[in-house]
Amino acid sequence: MEAKVISSGIQYSSLPSSYVRPESERPKLSEVADCENVPVIDLGAGDRSLTITQIGDACREYGFFQVINHGISKESMDKLLAVAHEFFSLPVEEKMKLYSDDPSKTMRLSTSFNIKKETVHNWRDYLRLHCYPLEKYVPEWPSVPPSFKDIVSTYCREVRQLGFRLQEAISESLGLNRDNLKNLLGEQGQHMAVNFYPVCPEPELTYGLPAHTDPNVLTILLQDSRVAGLQVLKDDKWLAVKPHPDAFVINIGDQLQALSNGKYKSVWHRAVVNAEKERLSVASFLCPCDSAVISAPEPLTSDGSPTIYRNFTYAEYYKKFWSRNLDQEHCLELFKN
Ligand code: OGA
Ligand code: NI
Repeated sequence: MEAKVISSGIQYSSLPSSYVRPESERPKLSEVADCENVPVIDLGAGDRSLTITQIGDACREYGFFQVINHGISKESMDKLLAVAHEFFSLPVEEKMKLYSDDPSKTMRLSTSFNIKKETVHNWRDYLRLHCYPLEKYVPEWPSVPPSFKDIVSTYCREVRQLGFRLQEAISESLGLNRDNLKNLLGEQGQHMAVNFYPVCPEPELTYGLPAHTDPNVLTILLQDSRVAGLQVLKDDKWLAVKPHPDAFVINIGDQLQALSNGKYKSVWHRAVVNAEKERLSVASFLCPCDSAVISAPEPLTSDGSPTIYRNFTYAEYYKKFWSRNLDQEHCLELFKN
């Protein structure tokens, strides 16, 4: 099979034209400020009500925050990044056995974002896995490197627990009961994207991932602590999120924006690439159960604020999301009342 991925060992001296963005859409890297203050929240601090206040403030003001003392061991994080790296270093013929550009596949290696729908490609390869229930999906995961399944399943269990803790805190920060949000979401799905951004000959002309919001409930991102690349939109300006070696980056997804009746924002973010170093990130997505009806709970609409979005099921939303290109209007706009 023809090598469709860009992590193929080929060194590019210039950017292939199918990756070049029109001038007006380029990342303008010199205008991006370093952001030292995406909130870093200590989940081990002991004072639960303070943590909840901090999370609420971060969700309202940024839609993004980082967490430390989150209960996932450094060893587990390091092993995951190492095995992900090992995977993308495999010979391209080995990787291409897993290649697919069909978004409905539950396990696939792919490239860019939605290669069949988009007009300009993105400088990214990614491995996408379904992760819940593990017994159902682990058998279809890559069997090389041999330690992949073990390391990734351990991590998936841990990250799911962290996600639930965060959802409980977010629920309380909205003035709801601890379990309220979780109960609305049903038995949550869990997906993972292992993103690999090879060295790029002309990073000013393209993206690893163009501006998008995540369609799910919340995303827990583990990023390579040596290489920056994640940027978030705050007050109409792009800010670079400096990697924090022990932290996860958490971002609110479209479903939390809808469930919070717009109080919390699913923020635009993007990944840029660079000419010196490859970069790796692992995004874990918690998703409502397909049949969950996304509808803001009564306390969030009874204060007189109008109900912003119509009710929809996650299955309906997800289908709409993948039928589009990434850098269009916010997908939630299509679900407004
Ligand atoms: C994503 C994402 C950012 C990154 O996978 O949805 O936003 O830094 N990734 O790789
Ligand atoms: Ni994202």
